Amino acid sequence: MSLAKVFPPKSEILFEQYQKLYRQSIENPKEFWGNAAKEHVDWFRPFDKVLDGGFEHGDVRWFEGGKLNISYNALDRHNPNDLALIWEGDEPDDIRKLTYGEVLRKVCKIGNALLRKGVQKGDIVTIYMPMIPELAMTMLACARIGAVHSVVFAGFSAEALGQRISAAKSKIVVTADVGRRGGKTIGLKDIVNDALTKLDCNSVIEHVMVWERFYNAESSASPPYEMKDRDIRMDPLVAVQRPYCPPVHMDSEDNLFILYTSGSTGNPKGLVHTTGGYAVYAKMTTQVTFDLQPGDVFACVADCGWITGHTYVVYGPLLNGSTSFMFESTPVYPNEGRYWDMIQRHKITQFYTAPTAIRLLMRYGDEIPKKYDLSSLRVLGSVGEPINPEAWRWYYEVVGRSKCTVVDTYWQTETGGHIITNLPGITPMKPGSCTLPFYGIDTVVLCPTTGKELTEPDENGNFQGVMALKSPWPGMARTCLGDHERFLTVYFKPYPGYYFTGDTVSRDKDGFHFIIGRMDDVMNVSGHRIGTAEVESALVAHPAVAQAAVVGKPHEIKGQSICAFAMLTAGYEESPELIKELRGSVRSEIGGFCNPDLIVITPSLPMTRSGKIMRRILRKIVCGEIDSLGDTSTLADPSIVETLIEKVEKL
Ligand code: WT7
Repeated sequence: MSLAKVFPPKSEILFEQYQKLYRQSIENPKEFWGNAAKEHVDWFRPFDKVLDGGFEHGDVRWFEGGKLNISYNALDRHNPNDLALIWEGDEPDDIRKLTYGEVLRKVCKIGNALLRKGVQKGDIVTIYMPMIPELAMTMLACARIGAVHSVVFAGFSAEALGQRISAAKSKIVVTADVGRRGGKTIGLKDIVNDALTKLDCNSVIEHVMVWERFYNAESSASPPYEMKDRDIRMDPLVAVQRPYCPPVHMDSEDNLFILYTSGSTGNPKGLVHTTGGYAVYAKMTTQVTFDLQPGDVFACVADCGWITGHTYVVYGPLLNGSTSFMFESTPVYPNEGRYWDMIQRHKITQFYTAPTAIRLLMRYGDEIPKKYDLSSLRVLGSVGEPINPEAWRWYYEVVGRSKCTVVDTYWQTETGGHIITNLPGITPMKPGSCTLPFYGIDTVVLCPTTGKELTEPDENGNFQGVMALKSPWPGMARTCLGDHERFLTVYFKPYPGYYFTGDTVSRDKDGFHFIIGRMDDVMNVSGHRIGTAEVESALVAHPAVAQAAVVGKPHEIKGQSICAFAMLTAGYEESPELIKELRGSVRSEIGGFCNPDLIVITPSLPMTRSGKIMRRILRKIVCGEIDSLGDTSTLADPSIVETLIEKVEKL
């Protein structure tokens, strides 16, 4: 598609200004980011240096010498009477609205409660909570006292939670008695109890602090769950704290949070984000990408258990002083109009969700969104996976009434915030393209074999290859918790001199980026990043499974679905009950959101003579692309291919 045929920017001049400022940001990053840091963040002490270190050793540091506190920037500096949070629970009439003053006072009380229970600067506090305002406020309270939060998505199982508590050596877990989703109640405190029985012996859990969903000071003499010695009731403890807590003066490079994400091995990486660079990047990307204006009600419907929730539910909107809308439920509860109903009732101005949700809602037809007044909307955001042009058009035309900008934001847990995205009214849009890099982001397309930047376009005029970045940006993760070598190996060693995203991209002649997908063994299921190795090890955890191989298969709504192949241990037989048990194993090892769509029991797996599983062949088989299996002659037992094709066809 040529530039002339795409949606024109409101003003050519603004697009030219972007291009000019972008060029400056790349040519002189220190000047650009130095100015941005002063403009977007209030510092207790100014920084001495904008940037030092680099990719080679992974010793990047931004705004060295600067002192700040992100909770101060997110709360104290705004008008206390403005609305900070609008929350809607699982039931549409369960609504809470909190002003900046109220949030600040409660965050201070929570901070004081944590201090009282022995939390110190640098301690990692694990948070396992439902999407309630107390989750955001607990994160901010950690930041206020210099503790490092590690939010674990409440859909993870006890096993996965225990693994993350152990890896972080957390002394404190903050949870809630229950979460609610789609009308169901989930006993989170019970899952925490379970997780604590699975910790390794180096773990040092001192307290489990428990929020009570329906706490009532007058009527709750005893807690609605089984109390253990280490348990602390959060609501009564917080109620008696002083509503002011001085913000700790954090160094720019002090750790702010860790967040686990999937990679190509079975054990998840704890990525570490630091304070100064992340604050500047979260503040600026939220404002610029979503064209934030005073009085906006910004709704990102992601869960705080993922990076999207960290940056675009909590930190980004609050750093900007806007109203952040927080959502506990699902897009289809109590009916398929839930999102549109919320937009109408709260006059939401920016709405940010994932393509999987758009595709799901699209299936219910145009009539549903058409019933609602969506005229408050200005910007619609997409994140998590490539958005197919059909879904893009539906989002643009039916939800946005052809009046809103659709911003397709490409980024990762590792990048802290958007790295490639269009900007409302500035960048021309092309459906399916995340368009052009954000300021200061130097994107390059590398040849996968030579590792060199591509200089010659292919026959279609595009550059297709490895998506990489050439220079540091403030929002980037700094290390993997306890394993800096892994950080270097995964991100900086594959293509020396570059940050490796793990994705492939096609860049067209206008410089627009189309993300194709992951190059590594990472799947994207309903916007969740899941390592094939994680699901494999969950399957192998069952005694019946000797070996397992997992691949992703394109799925109309979810993006990808999980397909698993399992080879049984001698003495076990295939049966519907066994398949059920294997699903149970995945649910209990990782969580229900990783449930495979397909489990195939197989006598063996397609392996090379050196014992390497050829997932490429499995991928072709599940996709029914048996005419293009490629070379199977290197397999130890080529006959297995026929067997597998027959089995999959029968399912
Ligand atoms: C991976 C990162 C970024 C927050 C949510 C996911 C894919 C993300 C897009 C997009 C195409 C996208 C990439 C990336 N991805 N956004 N707009 N277009 N692909 O964060 O769990 O760290 O996953 O999600 O493959 O590497 P994450």
